[in-house]
Amino acid sequence: MSIDKKMETAINGQINAEMHSAYLYLSMASWFEARSLNGFAHWMRTQYMEETMHAMKFYNFLCERGGRVLLKPIGEVPTEWKDQIEVFEEVVKHEALVTGLINKLVRLARELDDYATDSFLNWYVDEQVEEEDTAGAIVAKLKLIANDGMGILQMDGELGARAVSALVSPTIMNEPGKA
Ligand SMILES: [Fe+2]
Ligand SMILES: [Fe+2]
Repeated sequence: MSIDKKMETAINGQINAEMHSAYLYLSMASWFEARSLNGFAHWMRTQYMEETMHAMKFYNFLCERGGRVLLKPIGEVPTEWKDQIEVFEEVVKHEALVTGLINKLVRLARELDDYATDSFLNWYVDEQVEEEDTAGAIVAKLKLIANDGMGILQMDGELGARAVSALVSPTIMNEPGKA
């Protein structure tokens, strides 16, 4: 059974939102890059890849459900922040906003009795809990450190050790009909 048009449109909107998230985090990566905080930049580059993976997971799902992926322009993203705390506070705010978007998709799937999409969205519901928790914990640590140089460098090392999810490459390269 092909996906409902309303659900198709909503998922295309979410592909755009995930690509916008990716773009936002890449902008944040470049902000850290310019300050030689390479660990922070690495964390943001990883986040960029994760968001691209989120978009591609929706992309693949839409293809599998007989929908048509339609890509829209990606909205402009900020390029300047006051300090690293402000950057991560924006991450927290942004992830909360995305959680709201995912919840709206779940609501629509249930209204349409689209159990397949509802089930598929569970992964995102869980992922958002993790994303909000991780970003919130980083803000808390950054506030403790404040402007202590040693603390910031230590945090740079910690964030620089973040591994890319094993799902990134297989999801992005999961071409329908090739599996
Ligand atoms: Fe995402
Ligand atoms: Fe996210």
